[in-house]
Amino acid sequence: NSSVGHETNRPLIHYTPRVGWMNDPNGLFFDEETSLWHVYYQYKPDALVAGLPIFWGHATSKDLTSWVDHGVAIEPADDVSGAFSGSIVIDRNNTSGFFDNSTLPGQRIVALYTEDSSSKQSQFAAYSLDGGYTFNYYAQNPVLDINSTQFRDPKVIWHDETQRWVMTLALSQEYKIQIYTSKNLKTWNFQSNFSHYGFLGYQYECPGLSKVPVLQSVDPNTTLASNNSSSVDFKWVMFLSINPGAPTGGSVNQYFIGDFDGKTFTADDSASRFVDNGKDFYAMQTFSDTPTNEVVGLAWASNWDYGAYVPITPWKTSMTLARNLTLRPYKPNPESSQLTLYSEPIIDHSILNTTQSIKKASLNLTTEESVFYHLTKTAKGLLEFTLEWKVNATAITSKKSPAAMTFNLRGIEDEEEFLKLGYEVNSGAFFLDRGISDLDFVRFNPLFTTRLVHFLEPYRIDQDGLPVYKVHGIVDKDIVELFFNDGSSTSTNTFYMSEENFLGTVELSSSVDDVFNVLNLEIKQLNT
Ligand code: FRU
Repeated sequence: NSSVGHETNRPLIHYTPRVGWMNDPNGLFFDEETSLWHVYYQYKPDALVAGLPIFWGHATSKDLTSWVDHGVAIEPADDVSGAFSGSIVIDRNNTSGFFDNSTLPGQRIVALYTEDSSSKQSQFAAYSLDGGYTFNYYAQNPVLDINSTQFRDPKVIWHDETQRWVMTLALSQEYKIQIYTSKNLKTWNFQSNFSHYGFLGYQYECPGLSKVPVLQSVDPNTTLASNNSSSVDFKWVMFLSINPGAPTGGSVNQYFIGDFDGKTFTADDSASRFVDNGKDFYAMQTFSDTPTNEVVGLAWASNWDYGAYVPITPWKTSMTLARNLTLRPYKPNPESSQLTLYSEPIIDHSILNTTQSIKKASLNLTTEESVFYHLTKTAKGLLEFTLEWKVNATAITSKKSPAAMTFNLRGIEDEEEFLKLGYEVNSGAFFLDRGISDLDFVRFNPLFTTRLVHFLEPYRIDQDGLPVYKVHGIVDKDIVELFFNDGSSTSTNTFYMSEENFLGTVELSSSVDDVFNVLNLEIKQLNT
């Protein structure tokens, strides 16, 4: 059973290329003229593994939920080079001189990316005169070249305060994020290094600086739009990917909160925080020119340790859902409070059909029997659930074995294949097991680690003094994205089951009596 897939395994709302290999998201921007979200990505259309030449593929979306493919948008200079990762900015005021009045200000699209050749990695510019579908290459490329073979992934932003462009990119194997500035996107001046921060791993990749709104409330209904915009505070956040060498294996995305004066980024503390705690979340980039300045991120939902081996054809792999990112106060323990990155998935439910919904409140779990919910056979493998539970640790009679609630999402054709989720009280950990599958890849690939744990703090204390926890999950064929509490931490993981076996049955059980009270269980089955 080497490879499952074909169209029946394709995620419904996560972007996947029609055929071929995909890695990092690139050039993310919102076009205000057409109201389209543009996503480019590292793309090798003729292969199922990374290699050269590599291109920028292109997709668009009206809603970040449904996707249209447009094929290759940017090519490398020759067959032994790569158009590596980079970003897009909207050059409204034509600082580059690439445009004239025939291009609307909101469509003055300039891409800055790494040209990877056998001798070096240098930074190239290209611009589009047709809304981002085709590109012209700047005749005097490269725009930035320091004669390094490990110098890549430019992310450019407009810095309003100093009225110039700012580029962050990785001097990968010296563990430096370099910051350059420019007035015209063509001439770049070095400003500073942000160096040796966080987990180092083998090398730094795909850095990015974003101005992220600080919300004082953890109420999920407090969005940037509903806040009086003049009262919104911001902090600068530096995102950084490392690969290989993540503590959890392979690829991981971390971030630092701090200040930026147009030249230097200064982190508030030396802590390294993770954008996502799962195994399949890498190279996150934020969109340029979002409608109300909200910070929207999108990542590659895979891991360089095994992305090329996952049992899927004729494409590999998928992107995550887009996420709205904010900073909010957070209490990792009773004696500390700190800002942390909150993530909320962006899904346009208006284009999806909700075919079945289960809603339960106040369910006391006992060891006597599991609670089952069978979803309909019309399931296509797209589920959204919310599970909120209260823990009464005083009811634990023995600490000799785990006090665990399990939430199994079982296969609709074969219930013996399933995704196991749950929470264990004595360790305070949420757990996930993606190893219960017939597929050889899942059972035997040594790097596709299948059991993960994630410490979870309570998100509120109930009137009776007992802690309450919450998880919001989206399952889409072979990918599960978990948003804990109100998004104060997340875990994104792929999982693989036999062909046509999607998740379609939910089972709740407990290893202890009267410890777990499910305050809310809601399961929506969504179809496109
Ligand atoms: C990160 C990365 C980037 C590079 C690209 C090449 O996943 O290694 O550093 O630009 O992928 O495809």
